[in-house]
Amino acid sequence: MDALDRTDRYCIIGAGSSGITAAKNLKQLGIAFDVYEREDDVGGNWYYGKPCSSICRSTHLISSKPLTEYTDFSMPHDWPDYPGHEQVLAYLRAYADQFGLRPDIRFSTAVERVEPVAGGTCWDVTVAPPDGASETLRYRGLIICNGHNWYPKFPEYPGEFTGQTLHSADYKTPDVLEGKRVLVVGAGNSGCDIAAESATHARRTFLSTRRGYYYMPKFFCTSAMPPAAIAGSALHSPELPSRASSRSRTIWPDSGRCSNNSTRGRASARWSRTRTRSARKTPRFSS
Ligand SMILES: Cc1cc2nc3c(=O)[nH]c(=O)nc-3n(C[C@H](O)[C@H](O)[C@H](O)COP(=O)(O)OP(=O)(O)OC[C@H]3O[C@@H](n4cnc5c(N)ncnc54)[C@H](O)[C@@H]3O)c2cc1C
Ligand SMILES: NC(=O)c1ccc[n+]([C@@H]2O[C@H](COP(=O)([O-])OP(=O)(O)OC[C@H]3O[C@@H](n4cnc5c(N)ncnc54)[C@H](OP(=O)(O)O)[C@@H]3O)[C@@H](O)[C@H]2O)c1
Repeated sequence: MDALDRTDRYCIIGAGSSGITAAKNLKQLGIAFDVYEREDDVGGNWYYGKPCSSICRSTHLISSKPLTEYTDFSMPHDWPDYPGHEQVLAYLRAYADQFGLRPDIRFSTAVERVEPVAGGTCWDVTVAPPDGASETLRYRGLIICNGHNWYPKFPEYPGEFTGQTLHSADYKTPDVLEGKRVLVVGAGNSGCDIAAESATHARRTFLSTRRGYYYMPKFFCTSAMPPAAIAGSALHSPELPSRASSRSRTIWPDSGRCSNNSTRGRASARWSRTRTRSARKTPRFSS
């Protein structure tokens, strides 16, 4: 069967946070595209309870609001510094609405296969609509935004463990830990979140790590300023602790001491002035 000619446009796979911003940017540049999303709405990982989502009922952002929001669409002022997953989902959907993306998204339509054709200048994309047979469409290019956190990766260990094993992607609520002796393996954000929740629900909780980690607080001292707002790109540095503290001295010029209320007040004022300036230019989602 011949592929339907869509070579005037690009194909975007996935309508999570990456797919919708890819779509918005193409739209603003006047480049045509179609988005395919196998779930029935926008959200990806933040669409709690769907197969595409690995979050649990208590998940909040680990990245702060100013570091997470799109540069051209702010989260509401009155939201917490680390919003909960329902808020993140509402925000992503509001972004899709703000930039008029929904008409270009085919929901409940999974991409089954992609194949380069015409010497690699085009791509044949086979999709499975909810109500019929697969169809193949030819595109001038692909933008793959299918995420990766929805696919659990299990470690292999010698021997046999006869107790219950659960991957973090399948962990939703702490009732499954009630009264149990729980070993959490791994100290990424999933391991830490689940170990913390397990500590107040399971009979005993153990956390196993195979190396050491730096742990950063979500707040410095009593200030509500998230460290990401202070440290900025230093958060991505392997030398995080020393670089973050040297950046914080730039913000608190007098002493760098968190206990000094007056310098902390100045730092907050400067930060909120910056936010006010950007808020004037940027559409904001009001919930
Ligand atoms: C528990 C948890 C908490 C997290 N917290 C944060 C955080 O605080 N800050 C942060 O920045 N990141 C966080 N992340 C990382 C998270 O992955 C990103 O926030 C974000 O969701 C990635 O967006 P994405 O669009 O790339 O992928 P996803 O959100 O996974 O979206 C991919 C989309 O593609 C669709 N799709 C996949 N395959 C197909 C197919 N074949 N056909 C059609 N559609 C398809 C899926 O249905 C889904 O809607 C967290 C991840 C997890 C697991
Ligand atoms: N609250 C939140 O916002 C939140 C919650 C959960 C997840 N997330 C995000 O989701 C993404 C994935 O996080 P994640 O924590 O699921 O994964 P991750 O960051 O990749 O962490 C996996 C952990 O498992 C360990 N590990 C891997 N293979 C192992 C093995 N064979 N034996 C023992 N330990 C092993 C790793 O150790 P090594 O470090 O030594 O490899 C690491 O500690 C990240 O982007 C994270 O930020 C965010």
